[in-house]
Amino acid sequence: MVKTNDSYLLTKPDYAAYQARVNAINEKIENKTGAGNDFLGWLNYPDTYDKEEFERIIKAAKYVRDNYEVLVVCGIGGSYLGARAAIEAINGLHSNKKPEIIFIGQTFSSDYIYETLEYIKDKKFAINVISKSGTTTETAISFRLLKEMLEKKVGKEEARKAIFATTDKEKGALKELSTKEGYETFTLNSDVGGRFSVLTPVGLFPLAVAGIDIASLMNGAHQAMMELKEPLIENNPAYKYAVIRDHMYHSNKQVEMFVTYEPRLVQLGEWFKQLFGESEGKEEKGLLPDSATFSTDLHSLGQFIQQGSKVLFETILCLDKPNKDVIIPHDDENLDGLNYLENKQLSFVNKQAFLGTLKAHFEDGKVNHVLLEMDHLDAYSLGYLFYFFMKTCAMSAYLLDVNPFNQPGVEIYKKNMFHLLGKKGY
Ligand code: PA5
Repeated sequence: MVKTNDSYLLTKPDYAAYQARVNAINEKIENKTGAGNDFLGWLNYPDTYDKEEFERIIKAAKYVRDNYEVLVVCGIGGSYLGARAAIEAINGLHSNKKPEIIFIGQTFSSDYIYETLEYIKDKKFAINVISKSGTTTETAISFRLLKEMLEKKVGKEEARKAIFATTDKEKGALKELSTKEGYETFTLNSDVGGRFSVLTPVGLFPLAVAGIDIASLMNGAHQAMMELKEPLIENNPAYKYAVIRDHMYHSNKQVEMFVTYEPRLVQLGEWFKQLFGESEGKEEKGLLPDSATFSTDLHSLGQFIQQGSKVLFETILCLDKPNKDVIIPHDDENLDGLNYLENKQLSFVNKQAFLGTLKAHFEDGKVNHVLLEMDHLDAYSLGYLFYFFMKTCAMSAYLLDVNPFNQPGVEIYKKNMFHLLGKKGY
């Protein structure tokens, strides 16, 4: 489903020399004996997930689809990025599918929150509030505003039917509130961290409301789960990619630029950055994950990549087939000089842009590339891809000798902010 192609690396890892470490880490992951092992709930989740809850998600999603114009998804970080990435990847950027899915709770920006509330105030909207801890300030503020607006608009009873909460099974402020108010609730197991939660109800409910086939997504993830247990690097594209990343890091490349040729995958890049950045960036170690969309960003970052400082390598997600294609038309006057491309598919042009750029960056720019090759992206293959990246991430972080599943550094800004805001105890 995903092939890791190392043909465009200027320096290749000695895979044989890595194999013993990869074997040991693979055992650590599978037997759940490594650092952070109480957060490995995602590992077998495509097999062990609660099938009854899954059916409840499908039913609730249908109810929202049948009754509302907008679903407002309220969450941040791991409780936001995966759903947004998946919905854009599958439905595109100008989807007119109903209900519309919009996001809030990921910012303190009064402009953004004001605009969003104005946008939905006269529409029939439901809310999916997502927070594992239930105490995340961005999410909590937005939810308080949404809840107040909805209750004023439709009354408490109708509002209750329109609010869906995704949170920890047992604890937390959102769990308590949901129980008290009687909201339909979906569970994020305590052994799954936010950035590893896209294939749980955190992602599944918004995706189902967006009309995405979540059964197919889970089947794709299940295939990945089965295939990517394989310890042999040459037979496991996730481990091969992890080893290449580690080799790049030790070859003095500090930045990994995740590249796609599809604007609908910009948010996948955001998800990628959180997954790897939060998992690896600790103890003064780790690659800085960056992302770019070509050819768009060749007109901005292209110069730097070609001739700037040699800090980065590129990871390119190569999709062989687009979901839709467009033919370039003939023009009698040909004033734009484009008739040499008449009747050509745009996917052909995009492919030549990719090949030309690869040659320029690799041969002239001396930039290392790893290609992640896939045939196309649909719900099934996206489920596979999410799991692929999570498995790569676990292996990569353990190769760096850091705990992939904690994020101690994230708390420091919060403490300062709470102190400045005058929160009790700070
Ligand atoms: O990956 C993570 O753990 C974080 O990004 C969290 O998902 C994010 O901070 C939101 O947390 P919560 O779901 O508790 O509101």
